[in-house]
This record gives sequence, structure tokens and C-alpha cells, in this order.
Amino acid sequence: MQVVHTAADLRTALAGQTGTAFVPTMGNLHAGHISLVELAKQSGQPVVASIFVNPLQFGAGEDFERYPRTLQADCDKLAAAGCDWVFAPDVAEMYPVPQRFTVQPPDSLANDLCGAFRPGHFSGVATVVLKLFNLVQPRVAVFGSKDFQQLFVIRELVRQFNLPIEIVAGATLRDADGLALSSRNAYLGASERIQAPALHRELATVAAAVQAGEHALEALAASAARRLKMAGWRVDYVALRDATTLLAPTPDSTRLVVLGAAWLGNTRLIDNIEMAWSNPA
Ligand code: PAJ
Repeated sequence: MQVVHTAADLRTALAGQTGTAFVPTMGNLHAGHISLVELAKQSGQPVVASIFVNPLQFGAGEDFERYPRTLQADCDKLAAAGCDWVFAPDVAEMYPVPQRFTVQPPDSLANDLCGAFRPGHFSGVATVVLKLFNLVQPRVAVFGSKDFQQLFVIRELVRQFNLPIEIVAGATLRDADGLALSSRNAYLGASERIQAPALHRELATVAAAVQAGEHALEALAASAARRLKMAGWRVDYVALRDATTLLAPTPDSTRLVVLGAAWLGNTRLIDNIEMAWSNPA
């Protein structure tokens, strides 16, 4: 496995490649990230991973500075997983001048769900992913369903700008108690770690009720949020949406997703569960 830090070295390394599968990350890799590398390998293409903590997608007062940076350990894991190249640029390499051209997802997407609580976040994500796509020029790119809204934004980006890239979605890897693996889990204190699976548990309760035929969708989401608040969480949102449009469910919806974002102390966790739905009508 070759590790490169500049766009020029990346170009040299990938010269002559007719297709690659790409896994963009911010590093501090866990088994969830590695499962995406394994999915990328299944495409039959050689695999490029990137490690870049992207300042553009962090808001003022968010965790850009304290985000864990563990390049050597990450490279060891990627090499063991059979990754072929790692692109690990620094901020000056990705943004040699201030990024004045940016990708602005539509307000309805950029300001919804997580975007409502993290202004500019999805513009920062879409902008860096477009830059990374242009640098790597992959044929396939793999993203986790754990970041459901991000995956949706990337699919829209690819569609609307006619990027010749196939987007593949990976399932969410979880700890045995249900907590979705996340680099941010490292921020949790011991007692918070014990509480943390409640987010997934509450979403699973909503999903089970929906599948059992409960149709009062807003009430279900609201009661999950209320139970989390009672347990000491600061809840950004719990919402049930159409999984294919990310909009409110309609009588035509056949797949729903329940999404939640909530804080335990200083740690913001997100999660979601998709489900089939046969609507009441
Ligand atoms: P990061 O949070 O490092 O995540 C990298 C990829 O791993 C994303 O596609 C994410 O959805 C996926 N992932 C995270 N946790 C997962 C889990 N438990 N199981 C499976 N996949 C998981 O997402 C980003 O970085 C950035 O926003 C990025 C796309 C790299 C742009 O900067």
C-alpha cells in the first residue's frame, strides 16, 4: 500500500489506472470504515482511501481541532484490509487558497435534519467530496448509510453534476450493544458510553412500531425524542422520512427511515434505521 500526501503524487501513483474504488474518510478508522474498504474491494477495482479532516464541514465551535488524528494506526488498518493507496493531504494541500467556489446543496436538503443544526456542513461535505472525486477520479465510491443524509447529498451531487461515478452504500456497523461505530464515540465518558446505545434503541422502537402498523408517525418520533430527553440527552431531532426522497412520508412511500441526532454531554451522535412500509391507505 502506498501513502501519498499531495495531489501531484496521487496523480503519479494513479497514472494508468483505468478505474478505482474510492473510500473517503476523516481517519480515526474503525471497523465501519474498514467494512467500506471491503465493499470497495468487492467492486473488483483497486482501492483508494482518503484521510482528511475537512475544516470546511465543521462549524464554529465544533470539534475540528479535537477530532482524533491517528494516521499511522489508520494506515496499518487500511493496509491489512488490502487497500492499495491512501491519499492523506494536509489542509494547505486541499485548500492552497481559500475555497471561494463551493457546492451549495439546495436549501431544502442543506438546512434540513442535521443541516438545520450544522449550518454549512453539507456544503462543506459536498465541496470536499467533489474535490476528492476530481483528484481521485474513481469509477466507484463507497459511503456509509450511517450518515444517511450525507449519502443522500452525495447521490444528488453525482446525479446533478453528471459525475461518472457509481455510489455504493455500506451498512452501519455497530457494537454488540447497538451503538453505531463512530470516531466520535471516543469522546464518550464511561457512563455516557453505557447510555449511548439508547439512541439506537429508541430508533429501533420507532421502527418496530411502524412495522407493526402504527401510523401516527409524528407521534412515534416525538415520543422517542421525549424518552431520550428524559434520559438526559439533548435531542437535535428524531424524524421519520421517506427513505428515497428524505421528505415527509406520503401515501406512495414504500420505504421509511427514522433518523436521530442527539447529544450526550459534549458528544453529538447520529443514527438511523431504514424499514419497509405499507401505508394505511
Ligand atoms: P467519516 O466520518 O470518517 O466517515 C467516512 C465514511 O465511513 C462515511 O461514508 C461514513 O458514513 C462511514 N461510516 C461511519 N461510521 C460507520 C459505521 N459505523 N458503519 C459503516 N460505515 C460508517 O463521513 C465523513 O467521514 C466525511 O464527511 C467525508 C465523507 C469523508 C467528507 O469529509
